[in-house]
Amino acid sequence: MKLLVTGGAGYVGSACSARLVEAGHEVVVVDDLSTGHADAVPEGCRLVQADVADVANTLLGEGFDGVLHYAAKSLVGESMQDPAKYWHGNVVTSLRLLDAMREHGTPRLVFSSTAAVYGEPDEVPIPETAPTRPTNTYGATKLAVDHMITSYAAAHGLAATSLRYFNVAGAHGRYGERHAIETHLIPIVLQVATGQRDQVQIYGEDWDTEDGTCVRDYIHVTDLADAHLLAIENATPGQHAIYNLGNGTGFSVRQVIEACRTATGHKIPAQTAPRRAGDPAVLVASSDRARTELGWKPERTDIATIVEDAWDFTRSR
Ligand code: UFG
Repeated sequence: MKLLVTGGAGYVGSACSARLVEAGHEVVVVDDLSTGHADAVPEGCRLVQADVADVANTLLGEGFDGVLHYAAKSLVGESMQDPAKYWHGNVVTSLRLLDAMREHGTPRLVFSSTAAVYGEPDEVPIPETAPTRPTNTYGATKLAVDHMITSYAAAHGLAATSLRYFNVAGAHGRYGERHAIETHLIPIVLQVATGQRDQVQIYGEDWDTEDGTCVRDYIHVTDLADAHLLAIENATPGQHAIYNLGNGTGFSVRQVIEACRTATGHKIPAQTAPRRAGDPAVLVASSDRARTELGWKPERTDIATIVEDAWDFTRSR
């Protein structure tokens, strides 16, 4: 298939583009390089450096079989301080993209959604039927796009899938995480091992969990990429499928730091810090639906493998 990948120079977008190329698809990446890197775009992909909202209509006029939409603003803290950046960058841009798809009859869409749409969960593991009550603007904008996609799919026959990621981690070969502003736990911990930071701060050790630190569901980016491949290849016209992507197993902040100590052989000093605003205690996915309906089988589920792959990537740079 000829596929348009928005945000294909970013962490998840580049890993997924690589996976699509490996599977034999033709990939065109559109990315404004505001947070992505040109050298992360896989070989064999054409890169169009532009804002998706500006070029979606012209590009889709070339004729594409589908779009995988990763381009987004994704910092929770920033989304609370500068909501306009998120409503424009995530919602307005997605609307322009959907309108261009409708105009040119582009049949398939896979959208990067997030566990942040659920907010503080009533039950864990979280199923797709859980109430959506985002506690931050980032999650609210992603949920708004999910709603737009549902109505466009029903009215215009689009074959669409939203994939709600839990905590994406690890690396797919040379495609890994390198953000200018790093807020994610595993890359921060690895920066201590490389000497870029002196220590890691643990945001709260008084949570209602076994060791008092927050629990998250870490999913390997290669397993995530496999889910995108299944989603774009198996979408049904007129339907909007929604799947959670996680492993169904939670690891605490302390367990993650310990796994990083083992992988790196570094002591990784850690210090208790105050809780971070908006953090739920436990976020673990039920991804039974993705396993049953998509036939998705995550294969890199243990935290040691996830951290080792992230460490190999970090060391290679
Ligand atoms: N944490 C620390 N110290 C740090 C960084 C993080 O203790 O220096 C803790 C956080 O408090 C949290 C856990 O490590 O308990 C994981 O934090 P991340 O920032 O790595 O990930 P989040 O769980 O906050 O965020 C992820 C995605 C978001 C998404 C959210 C859904 O990265 O995009 O899940 O709630 F919005």
